[in-house]
Amino acid sequence: SKSIRKLVLGNWKLHGTLSANGSLLSAVREGVANSAITASCDVGVCVPFPYLAQAESALTGSDLAWGAQDVSAHASGAYTGEVSATMLRDFGSRYVLVGHSERRMYHAESDQLVADKAKIALDAGLIPVVCIGESLAEREADQTLSIVERQLAPVLALGSDVVRRLVIAYEPVWAIGTGKTASPEQAQDVHAAIRKLLGEDGASVRLLYGGSVKGANAASLFAMADIDGGLIGGAALNAEEFLRIAEAG
Ligand code: G3P
Repeated sequence: SKSIRKLVLGNWKLHGTLSANGSLLSAVREGVANSAITASCDVGVCVPFPYLAQAESALTGSDLAWGAQDVSAHASGAYTGEVSATMLRDFGSRYVLVGHSERRMYHAESDQLVADKAKIALDAGLIPVVCIGESLAEREADQTLSIVERQLAPVLALGSDVVRRLVIAYEPVWAIGTGKTASPEQAQDVHAAIRKLLGEDGASVRLLYGGSVKGANAASLFAMADIDGGLIGGAALNAEEFLRIAEAG
């Protein structure tokens, strides 16, 4: 909405090396410093776990935030391979994605698990970015709204206090990495429905759109009433393209 500060977040997914990240982070940092982007828009990058320390040292003192792409639903314990919310905080993370469609698909994350992750992240002082969205088959079967409603149900059950502090990213699975963006109107329709589902708590919740956002289509998406920014995959790996998107925010 017009009264909500925009947010543009990069999701690097399973990409990067120490040396490539070094150039990308410094180019983005420099681009943001030499622009008016952060006057109207928050910007951050969600990096693979091993690179959090690198993001922290490259971005501390800048207007950029960083974070992770997943978090354990457990605080600590015998959970081999997991990374906790407090560990993410230890490296200065501000954001964490939860329930990205790739986690739901390839790691069988349930709606309830995603809600549990959102809760533990918030409790640790992180801002969870809850990702939701329908598949192509679901859209074609006219199930888009019932799917996002189902995905959000356990999140809404966490109550107002949680819901008001979330970021939600609507990412239709058919638009992710396909070059097929939802039209601004298609995205707006779903965003408006999500805002409605959130009730009074939704008034200040940032609703991001994700799925093939590029420099060339960002402005028309972000101009829609209920699109408060974007979650950017492929285009976040290129500093110039990512900055162009943030300029639209
Ligand atoms: O989380 C962002 C994402 O899934 C969108 O990816 O590459 O279509 O921008 P992409």
